[in-house]
Amino acid sequence: MSFEDIFQEDSSVVNSAHARVNLIGEHTDYTGGYVFPSLLNFKTTIQISQNNKKIYQVYSENFNEQKNFTDFIKSKNIDWIDYVKGCLFVFYDENKYIPNTYLNIFISSTIPMGRGISSSSALCVAILKTLNNFFKSQYSKKHIAILAQKVERNYIGVSGGIMDQMVSSIGITRKAFFLDCLTLKYDLIDLPRNWVFCLVDSAVQRNLRDSAYNERYNQLKKAEQYLGVEYLGSVKPNQFYKNKINDELILKRARHVITENDRVLKAKQSILNTDIKLFGKLMNESHLSYAEDFEASTKDVDLIIERSISSGAEGARLTGGGFGGFTVSLIHSNNYQNWKINMSKFYDDKIIFEV
Ligand code: GLA
Repeated sequence: MSFEDIFQEDSSVVNSAHARVNLIGEHTDYTGGYVFPSLLNFKTTIQISQNNKKIYQVYSENFNEQKNFTDFIKSKNIDWIDYVKGCLFVFYDENKYIPNTYLNIFISSTIPMGRGISSSSALCVAILKTLNNFFKSQYSKKHIAILAQKVERNYIGVSGGIMDQMVSSIGITRKAFFLDCLTLKYDLIDLPRNWVFCLVDSAVQRNLRDSAYNERYNQLKKAEQYLGVEYLGSVKPNQFYKNKINDELILKRARHVITENDRVLKAKQSILNTDIKLFGKLMNESHLSYAEDFEASTKDVDLIIERSISSGAEGARLTGGGFGGFTVSLIHSNNYQNWKINMSKFYDDKIIFEV
């Protein structure tokens, strides 16, 4: 199906946004810390045109479904259409002088959904970029990322950070995107040529993930209260060990974030030095901390990590919000064929993707 098949006319504006893999730095973004993602080739594309039917008509190719609406009221059980409504709501709210303009919107995507590679942020960034072009608002890529975050936080109601929206809006494939989430200053760094990052998919239960994510978010906000700081991201490991948190669970969650921020800074340096061993080691430490202190991994994921390392990866970890989804492994290009042969003893080629 194409835009023309559904709406019997050509679209006037087309734009897309990519998914991301986070190489290292998990649950550090909303605590004012550092993250280090990179863009994937998977992307979501939006086509729009104006209609004169006084109704918004939206077709999703992936769901093979058309939904129409005239107001921006959120559904009781969040559905894909709510991301579209949320983007329009936030965009019009920001642009009060733009008259409500009825649109035909066509969504197509190659991004696997609910796997920790930010399909929802890519959808919001792609819609907002398209609206930005259509209405000639001239928002910067950074501003589009901020609006996309507003959609998820204020409209959908997920307490996410800013990493996914920033990298989806500004990132470039084959470059790592180092982001300071407090200042929103970033660096784009080439991935060394002989480093191969590979994703391996695991099963995921979406509903569990959202509630567990919000729970972790609240635990980290509690840790900030205990330590009397605005952001955990401002606490260095040596300062942390001097302070006391008399709640074992909150202490573990905070320790993950504080040591993770330190690992992101070291990981950035190790890419600049093309030190693959160190980057791999940091990924392994990151996974251990994510699994043990943050308790965000699953048995299936841990098994993928173990097998990936014994198959020849320099390092491997769970990427994204946690509780399933994709893992990311770093392999030296000289070992890549062997790694793939070894991994194919356990996993179908179809669930392994080269970044
Ligand atoms: C999700 C959120 C991000 C970030 C990661 C965990 O992808 O959308 O903001 O918190 O989880 O690092």
